[in-house]
Amino acid sequence: MAAKPEPTLQNVLDQQSLKWIFVGGKGGVGKTTCSSSLAVQLAGVRDSVLIISTDPAHNLSDAFRQKLTKTPTRVEGFANLYAMEVDPTPDLGDLELGGEAGGLQDSFLADLAGSIPGIDEAMSFAEVMKQVDTLDYSCIVFDTAPTGHTLRLLNFPNILEKGLKKLMDLKASMGGMMSSVSRMMGVGGDADVVEQVSEKMESMLSLVKKINTQFKDPAKTTFVCVCIAEFLSLYETERLVQELAKYEIDTHNVVINQVIYPDIIGASKLLEARVRMQTKYLEQYEELYEDFNLVRLPLLEEEVRGVEALREFSRNLVVPYVPPPPRVYREEGGAAGSETEVARLRARVQELEAQLDKGRA
Ligand SMILES: Nc1ncnc2c1ncn2[C@@H]1O[C@H](COP(=O)(O)OP(=O)(O)O)[C@@H](O)[C@H]1O
Ligand SMILES: [Mg+2]
Repeated sequence: MAAKPEPTLQNVLDQQSLKWIFVGGKGGVGKTTCSSSLAVQLAGVRDSVLIISTDPAHNLSDAFRQKLTKTPTRVEGFANLYAMEVDPTPDLGDLELGGEAGGLQDSFLADLAGSIPGIDEAMSFAEVMKQVDTLDYSCIVFDTAPTGHTLRLLNFPNILEKGLKKLMDLKASMGGMMSSVSRMMGVGGDADVVEQVSEKMESMLSLVKKINTQFKDPAKTTFVCVCIAEFLSLYETERLVQELAKYEIDTHNVVINQVIYPDIIGASKLLEARVRMQTKYLEQYEELYEDFNLVRLPLLEEEVRGVEALREFSRNLVVPYVPPPPRVYREEGGAAGSETEVARLRARVQELEAQLDKGRA
């Protein structure tokens, strides 16, 4: 039997050929916390690291406690870690072709975009990839949006290909009309709208094809699934893993975040019940993903915010978290506990009575 994979993300740090690292999962499970932590660790072993948030509900700025924009900003406290937040649903201004026939082209493009669901997102993602591709980072970590959105994003080459085909059909059926309209409006001549749009899409497509090849190469790309030990998250992780297989994107790491360890249960019935529930799902994760690196991260008492907190938390990605020995809590209502409590209250009552007496005197 093959050895069980290590319960850490050390494999990601060791794989120097990795260029694109996606981190994704259900909303609120800790995608940003885990992707930022991973980026912090990667910054220690790679020349330069860029983390990009593609979640419309960006919280990378909150995690790093630093204002971020749609261009890479160096993260304070690091020489080689950069971060940016991109807007995955652009207005069509971002898709402008420029040139004299701008207005007509834009409205044509707007119609086209409207007619193919997801093409605007696909185009804007392609633009981001084009930008990132020229920037030459050693590796890029994606802090992604919740699963459905991310799967759409990974499907973008497909959407662009379809878009291009649709455009070709349109061109065949109405190209002539478009250019006579252009001429009529005085923007004709060399400004063949359809031609320019399709040229733009062709160049996008070649970039998209290149990126698609890299995404399907497990030496270059991997997807780290983040989840919590609850039914919905387990279910969504399985869906994600299956979809990734369909897109031929490598995935072999699952991070189970917010694990409650028995040491913090204390006298809490609630925590005790949560631990029992989590244990059930942890077993199911172990069973389903026995050939994955399955990393457990503890639920902390406080949010993980700021570079120092992230650095500290990120250690758990490489050295498995070991909970401290259980704290000794006084049993509420237990014999020893209530006796000392009664004694303490008695002493307090005596103190107050003495004060009252003094006041009366
Ligand atoms: N293990 C953890 N312990 C304590 N707080 C956590 C933990 N993981 C995440 N958090 C906090 O939970 C909130 C949501 O996490 P976040 O990483 O932003 O989730 P997502 O990006 O998936 O929406 C944040 O405030 C974060 O600091
Ligand atoms: Mg997030």
